[in-house]
Amino acid sequence: MLLNDNQIEKMLEEKGFIDELIDPNIKLSEEIARLKEEKNAVILSHYYVEGELQDVADYVGDSLGLAQEAAKTDAEMIVFVGVHFMAETAKILNPGKKVILPDLKAGCSLDESAPFDKFAEFKAKYPGYKVVSYVNCSADLKTLSDVVCTSANAIKIVESFPQSQKLIFAPDKNLGNYINSQTGREMVLWDGACMVHEKYSVEKIIELMDQHPDAKFIAHPECESPVLLLANHIGSTTSLLKYVEANNAEKFIVATESGIFHQMKKACPDKTFIPAPSIDSTCGCNDCSYMKLNSLQKLYICMKHELPEVTLSKEVIEKAKEPILRMMEISKQPVA
Ligand code: 13P
Ligand code: SF4
Repeated sequence: MLLNDNQIEKMLEEKGFIDELIDPNIKLSEEIARLKEEKNAVILSHYYVEGELQDVADYVGDSLGLAQEAAKTDAEMIVFVGVHFMAETAKILNPGKKVILPDLKAGCSLDESAPFDKFAEFKAKYPGYKVVSYVNCSADLKTLSDVVCTSANAIKIVESFPQSQKLIFAPDKNLGNYINSQTGREMVLWDGACMVHEKYSVEKIIELMDQHPDAKFIAHPECESPVLLLANHIGSTTSLLKYVEANNAEKFIVATESGIFHQMKKACPDKTFIPAPSIDSTCGCNDCSYMKLNSLQKLYICMKHELPEVTLSKEVIEKAKEPILRMMEISKQPVA
């Protein structure tokens, strides 16, 4: 029985209903692997989803790596286990393929901070400025951009413009501030932030560093600048992972979403990883509630019924593709 969008939507809202539809005798990870073969699908998972969802993936990575994998896949269907803007990027790069996402409600606070109309008004106030947009935004917003970047290549992308070129950076003001500090630019910043990375407490991090003087403190550039100032290393999720693998330290205080610990522990089982404390340590703030909407059950249902599907108009795909391809081109170029 194939279900329609509304039925899936209803099921996803009522978790019990999903369980009812799943035969309790099946092993979900095995069924997912079988469906993958049967449907010639590729599963792409972000580091922030639950470990079991990373373990069933063909590729686990950061936003840049996932976009690059999506661009080169020859699978017929792309199953994106992450958030909506990431699946949209995969769709833009593969307009002829079906792209599905276990839960369409898996959004992003950065994406939500920058609605198309408001950003268009903002952009109109700065004639002659080029727009660099962080990939964590909607496909619509990308259509208003000259180039896209991820946290892995942001500095390189910004530096590809001559120093005299005035720039707008959206939607993450923290990443924008960080790039300004590293490049000496004065990009105009859109006022958006990640709801996970803006919650870290400088005071509590300092306390923790005092308790663990042997630990290295590492942070994602979506954190606020007072947090970044304390860091021994700042980088994208892939960069943080590579750092803990290569560094001699035995202990790391980590300021990014908790899903990353799965790969860190796998790569370095003898090292200790301590989550950086947030302002309210009782709230599970290091979890991105959007990423955590993904589950093995939803992934199975989504692959079985090939829903929910990410769709975009031809016009948006064509316009949004240009700044994404420009990013990929610049990313390949060696640093001057
Ligand atoms: P990465 O590009 O480092 O994977 O980060 C994506 C993200 O959503 C960070 O919050
Ligand atoms: Fe968006 Fe932050 Fe979640 Fe990343 S962690 S998907 S930036 S809300």
